[in-house]
Amino acid sequence: MIFYRLKQPWLFCLVLSVMGGCAKQEHPEGLSSKDGVIVGFSQIGAESAWRTCNTRSVKEAAAQAGVQLLFSNAEQKQENQIKAIRSFIAYQVDVIAFVPIVTGGWDNVLMEAKDAGIPVLVVDRKIDIQDESLYAGHIGTDGVEQGRKAGLFLLEKFKDQLGNGEPIHIVELSGTTGSSMAMSRAEGFREVLSPYSQFQIIYSESGDFLRSKGYELMRSILETGLDIDVLFSHNDSMTLGVLNAMKEAGLKPGVDVVIVTVDAEQAAINALIRGEVNCVIECNPKQGPEIIRLAQALVRGEKIPRLIHMEETVFYEGEDLSSLPPRGY
Ligand code: AHR
Repeated sequence: MIFYRLKQPWLFCLVLSVMGGCAKQEHPEGLSSKDGVIVGFSQIGAESAWRTCNTRSVKEAAAQAGVQLLFSNAEQKQENQIKAIRSFIAYQVDVIAFVPIVTGGWDNVLMEAKDAGIPVLVVDRKIDIQDESLYAGHIGTDGVEQGRKAGLFLLEKFKDQLGNGEPIHIVELSGTTGSSMAMSRAEGFREVLSPYSQFQIIYSESGDFLRSKGYELMRSILETGLDIDVLFSHNDSMTLGVLNAMKEAGLKPGVDVVIVTVDAEQAAINALIRGEVNCVIECNPKQGPEIIRLAQALVRGEKIPRLIHMEETVFYEGEDLSSLPPRGY
């Protein structure tokens, strides 16, 4: 875990606190919320280039705005996020922002934040909570829409085969089980394709948004001899692992198997240009400026929108992407 821009002696106790070792924190002398905005940010980890960019975006935006950021990396564990949020409460930050690794299990800790009078921003992924007043707003990306875009691409791609009765076999590699992103991408995808019985999801498994799992899963799928027409992968990291597994098995991804992937990392765009991927759906990680702007508005006591979605696009095979600026992730 890293605490960004804090070089004070009390850092040690704060680190302990995030790990659950310190019961109560106080603002260090000479630094309080009166001197500037302090935001506690609990990130889920660094599972993908997308996530690393998301973290960088928040840190850079905070630095530019002169906002003090307490940063905690949860290493993919919800319990670490809950500890971090408790530490932020003890420290009396002005705003808590967090990326919920899964949708459920936040009620108690967010009630504690509410009791402490600290507004909470839910970032990137969504939560499922009884009392919606426990958070001020959500800023993230629209997973349902991303899933729909994947389905719509396939309808176009296979339009000449629709009606011939031949099944189109789809393998889906989904994201972290219980995460809003895995659920929403799956939902939007099925919403578009379920009226067409030819599209059959013959295998769906979580690859946890990890390249290594994408590779391993695709290797074992191919070993079973399953006949795959389409791979829908919930993120580029898993897709990059899949591409390796397919090539090792002598397959030509993008030709033998249609590949649809989400995120739009530079590596996926490069694969699209090489013809190894057919469609890349953008998920925009550059949420930092908006998160910090919303945090500052909350500190000023302003009401913020309940929901903000980032702008996103889709990149298709055959497009001229020669003038596309570097993605930055
Ligand atoms: O929540 C966003 C998803 O999380 C991104 O698609 C993925 O790369 C990351 O792990």
